[in-house]
Amino acid sequence: ACEAFNETYRPQFHFTPARGWMNDPNGLVYVKEQDGTGWYHLFYQYNTLGEKSPGNIGWGHAKSQDLVHWDRLPQALFPGEKFYIFSGSAVQIEGTDTVCLLYTGMNDVTKIQNQNLAFSPDGGEKFLEFTKNPVIDLKKTEFRDPKIFSYKTEDGRSYYVMAVVLPDVFTVQFYKSTDFIAWELLSEFTMDTKAIWECPDLFEMSVGPNKKWVLTFSLQSKEVSKTVYYVGDFDGTKFTLDPSFSTQPVPIDHGSDFYAAVTYENEPQQRRIMIGWLGNWEYSTTSPTDPWRCSQSIPRMLELKNIDNQYKLYSTPIPELTKLRKTSWTFSGKPVISAGSPTVVSFPKDIDTRHCEIELELQIPISSRPPDKVGIQVLRNEAGEENTLIYYDIKTKNVVVDRSKSGNVKFSDRFLSVVSEQNVPLREIIKFHIFVDASSVEVFVNDGEAVLSSILFPNQKSTTMSVICDGQAATFTIVKKFVVHPLTSI
Ligand code: FRU
Repeated sequence: ACEAFNETYRPQFHFTPARGWMNDPNGLVYVKEQDGTGWYHLFYQYNTLGEKSPGNIGWGHAKSQDLVHWDRLPQALFPGEKFYIFSGSAVQIEGTDTVCLLYTGMNDVTKIQNQNLAFSPDGGEKFLEFTKNPVIDLKKTEFRDPKIFSYKTEDGRSYYVMAVVLPDVFTVQFYKSTDFIAWELLSEFTMDTKAIWECPDLFEMSVGPNKKWVLTFSLQSKEVSKTVYYVGDFDGTKFTLDPSFSTQPVPIDHGSDFYAAVTYENEPQQRRIMIGWLGNWEYSTTSPTDPWRCSQSIPRMLELKNIDNQYKLYSTPIPELTKLRKTSWTFSGKPVISAGSPTVVSFPKDIDTRHCEIELELQIPISSRPPDKVGIQVLRNEAGEENTLIYYDIKTKNVVVDRSKSGNVKFSDRFLSVVSEQNVPLREIIKFHIFVDASSVEVFVNDGEAVLSSILFPNQKSTTMSVICDGQAATFTIVKKFVVHPLTSI
């Protein structure tokens, strides 16, 4: 397991490097070794030289047997003097212990980005560079983040497909290969999004008895920093947008800090599991943590549903995370919470509310007069002036995470205070499932219908939470369930 650290903002159940800077998750692959053992590998964009700067990037490495407890491993890929190893992916060659890594090489002199191959002959212990790199070179300065997977044709053949982006022209290209070296361009998919594309991924998902393909990537501009998706079809050559799906891509997570997310290849239970970087290029490079910067998200399971002829991705925390629960605390106060009289809960000493999982279900009297807002303040100090507010706005149907009073908000003027997910249907019971880990909150609402992940930096001791209900006189909400599970360190 991980060596434990206990700096103020250090997450305890999220993966962080011991020291240094980390951004995108890379090479998410489950490797089943010939002796039968299986490991989830996590590589990541890593700068050992310092927590201050994202330059000098290579691939850090960790592995896990359960996606919960991680072993920090020696760095896998090292940058050169003026040559950085940007994001990419990994696959295991079936029936062997060989793992192939495809990454973007970024030449800091010419600024050219091209695609390169490295491999591990022993299931991810040692890593070797292919000697005839690059494997794809368009001599472009914006061309990166290859994600590869094995594509099976209907007649039982297979080949590797690479999705890779031309960020500034809002395009993903698809290439084909059988040897990781010779790549043939299959097609391109372009949409005018007015924000650059990074870190693509493409995978098939079941929707009831049917199959659809999901294309994800990360969208970035001064205004937006989100992992987004399209739903459509992929015939082995070309991705076609489903006619019912919006021409603007839809965020998978509406928080401010779920970026560059990609999914596992070869997941043994056939699940689609996604991990994202809990960060944002607008301010994470100056976030107030030392001697490391940034964490990866908790792994989420994706499911694709079709409701009223609309495709929608749902994200839920993987069930393995329940292993981290120890003693749980259950609310035993007065269940009716009246408008304007929030219920402040003080916790016993053994309930660590800085590293915990919260299950909160609130009943809203929708047929009579409902309140305006219901939710909870977490990471809240004794007096309550410091808190992170998470609520559902019944009038606007928005789920909101408000970190304006969350602690140190001044370290960057780009650290926006409020994020929201819109059009979350009003239901009689609203379920909040929240993971709090020192410097982040990951909020799942109504079993993954809405998701928001944000980072924050509390200054005060978090000793309390407050269940809130705002609205006109005599409106109220009822606490159906309120359980807090402190989580152990990984
Ligand atoms: C996304 C990204 C990628 C790039 C990497 C560099 O956060 O900008 O496009 O490969 O980070 O670290």
